Amino acid sequence: MAQAWQSYDSGAQSHDRLAVPSLFAQPAKDLVEALDLGAASAVLDVGSGSGIAALTASQSSGPATVVVGIDPSFEMLRVARGNGLRCVVSGALPHLPFCANSFDRVLASFVLSHLTSYEAALVEMVRVLRPGGKLGVTAWGGVRNEFRERWQSIADSFAGREALGAAVDEALPWEPWFEEPGHLESALQAAGLNRVALHHKQYTVRMSIADFLAIRDGSIQARFMRQTLDPERWKQFNATLAAEFYTSFSDPIEHERDVHIAIGTKP
Ligand SMILES: C[S@@+](CC[C@H](N)C(=O)[O-])C[C@H]1O[C@@H](n2cnc3c(N)ncnc32)[C@H](O)[C@@H]1O
Repeated sequence: MAQAWQSYDSGAQSHDRLAVPSLFAQPAKDLVEALDLGAASAVLDVGSGSGIAALTASQSSGPATVVVGIDPSFEMLRVARGNGLRCVVSGALPHLPFCANSFDRVLASFVLSHLTSYEAALVEMVRVLRPGGKLGVTAWGGVRNEFRERWQSIADSFAGREALGAAVDEALPWEPWFEEPGHLESALQAAGLNRVALHHKQYTVRMSIADFLAIRDGSIQARFMRQTLDPERWKQFNATLAAEFYTSFSDPIEHERDVHIAIGTKP
């Protein structure tokens, strides 16, 4: 059973305000573009979060297109509604509450790595896709940056490398595996999709140290630490992060993130 720290509820506001504009919006735009919405009449965004990919799909399609976002986090859905996404559904893979062959496009941006079985999740997304329809997913690539690595080494020193590693393995079991683009391709093919196309994108991200630390504060590692560390130790952790970052790096910081986008067609 999922632990409370695995839920995105507590981080929904900061995900939307800080992480979406700097990290999630551009991949969502590239995913929607690669999906080529054409005359799609129904689009499903799975793990929609605060709605960036669904809203991008709405803007790229005609007024008659129905775009639905589904997510297990109520808070994410509340923010998505506030952002203008009209159709939101509470639910989670591997069971989608929709009939087979309902959607012309199904997308999931940075979601697959969360699933215990990404295979079952893909089969379910393909089930609700119409024949001839396209499925598109994104996953983070393997490009490293010194800021995340420094954050991680400080977190390891407070929570213990093993305990933190185990928490991440539990919440994001497939994150490292999907860094390898061939794995995304073979996963879509194994789910029965044809004409699988892969795109690799690299983005330069510039943000203040305060925003970087606030975004990391919403990460799965931080959510786990906030719940499991003694409150005094949690305070010390944050003080150490601020001291190290402001003395080691000049503000704002700039780094690279890379993303794999995979698109497949249902026969
Ligand atoms: C990293 S966020 C990405 C959100 C959004 N797609 C975006 O690009 O901003 C991952 C999202 O997946 C959702 N999620 C986690 N487990 C899920 C599941 N089993 N089925 C569907 N969504 C899930 C989370 O609640 C969260 O909103």
